[in-house]
Amino acid sequence: MKLQIINGPNLNLLGAREPEVYGSSSFEDYLQELTQHFPEVEFYYFQSNVEGEIINKIHETGFSFDGIILNAGAYTHTSIAIHDAIKGVKTPVIEVHISNVHARETFRHHSLIAGACKGVIAGFGLDSYRLAVEAIKSLNNNYA
Ligand code: DQA
Repeated sequence: MKLQIINGPNLNLLGAREPEVYGSSSFEDYLQELTQHFPEVEFYYFQSNVEGEIINKIHETGFSFDGIILNAGAYTHTSIAIHDAIKGVKTPVIEVHISNVHARETFRHHSLIAGACKGVIAGFGLDSYRLAVEAIKSLNNNYA
């Protein structure tokens, strides 16, 4: 099973950025744990602070991969273009957030991409990504 993880703007700063909200682990360190946890999964990781690059990656992987795990960061709340990119591909996309966006500022309560995604996981820290892998595995096993 091939999974693409896409992290959007400012998520390159994980570990250093607001650790009280996002934790103190870098994504690279967490990814090693995730890879060990799911030896049957081929993980591909991409991070960009640029909206168009995120869209290009969705197009590139969205017809051949088994799933895309997308944390679009603040673009979640602003990007119709990312919504359209998700709609335009075949691969199921799971929206993830490290923090519980609904318990934060009101501008984070609305997602412009959620309606295009298969589902949303938010608020479990970095474990949100593991839960998203489980969700995609369930989709592949026809449980959902
Ligand atoms: C985030 C939540 C967003 O509101 C924020 O802009 C981020 C990170 C999260 O993972 O909790 O950059 O997507």
